[in-house]
Amino acid sequence: MNPLREVQIRAFSKEYKVQIHSDFRGLGETIKRFYPVSSIFILTERKLSGLFSKFYETEIASLGIPYHEIYIKGGEKNKHITQTAETYNRLIELGADRKSLILALGGGVVGDYAGFIASTFQRGVRFAQIPTTLLASVDSSVGGKVAVNADLGKNMIGSFYQPEFVYLPLIALSTLPKREWRCGMAEIVKHGLLSGGEYLEKVRSNDKNVYDHTSSELLELIIGSILYKASIVSQDERETGLRKVLNLGHTTAHAIESLTNYRKYSHGEAVAIGLLTAIILSTEKQGLDPAWIEDLKKILNAYDLPYKDKSKSGQVAKHTLHDKKNVGNSVRFVLLQSPGNPIWDIPIELDEIASAFKKQKKDL
Ligand code: GLY
Repeated sequence: MNPLREVQIRAFSKEYKVQIHSDFRGLGETIKRFYPVSSIFILTERKLSGLFSKFYETEIASLGIPYHEIYIKGGEKNKHITQTAETYNRLIELGADRKSLILALGGGVVGDYAGFIASTFQRGVRFAQIPTTLLASVDSSVGGKVAVNADLGKNMIGSFYQPEFVYLPLIALSTLPKREWRCGMAEIVKHGLLSGGEYLEKVRSNDKNVYDHTSSELLELIIGSILYKASIVSQDERETGLRKVLNLGHTTAHAIESLTNYRKYSHGEAVAIGLLTAIILSTEKQGLDPAWIEDLKKILNAYDLPYKDKSKSGQVAKHTLHDKKNVGNSVRFVLLQSPGNPIWDIPIELDEIASAFKKQKKDL
């Protein structure tokens, strides 16, 4: 079964394709292109296996090579270095070798975790991303960032390790709760602001069909996001400069997530709030047209995403210092000169962050 669409990723370390399919028919054919494969290991959550194995198992079984599922616990707190020993042991017990292929089937947590396992098991075995959430489809499955958490920091142990391919089965999105859709939409809005132009207009139009996994409107949003990410990753795979723009909105988002103990907001919701902080700062520091403040609020509202939070602005500002991007008492932000023209590593003082955050929660 041919993919609906394909995007070529040209990273410095590897070139590969993101294939968008309606469903799992086509997975077997795709895997065959990477032969010889001695065995296949599907790293996923038990609940995802329950939902999708009836679709992917026939594809994989038809290849006639040994395959196994290894369940990993979902949730950011389980994407932890202490979990990895159990997974490595399972791989060894089940006979994984250097010609095995790992399939990371799930959302961002599974992709990061399984990718990290693949990058380290026997000094690196091949793996593929099969994203089942919108966020993973438009962001985390593409670009090769893989990592696990340490007690004292998120994504502290990891590497850049590109998959052999990304297989995106749109049918998986049909099972997503509304909140998960919103989470992905926040990253799509981020890519819209970063790329500007026609893609931003598509994002802004918020056609109601974007919540339908079979719609051409959703497909266009996904493709646009992946194309944007592909262009960035092809220029700066290891985030020495340009790739930092993908962190637009994330500095404040991480502060809010940590202040609210990762309970109040999903990652995407926190990013939505962070995007508005970045836009307010951009109007103050980079001459972005102030009309974008109301425009962004409208876009976020239309996608049912929050743009303000009750946390004390001083506290939020202080928490941004925990971000890896800070220097001294200022924090490095990604800002926009205009949509489509991001700029990174802009030092912002804590009181400027606090004042921007205060402005955005004015109409609470
Ligand atoms: N999610 C940001 C990046 O891949 O660089």
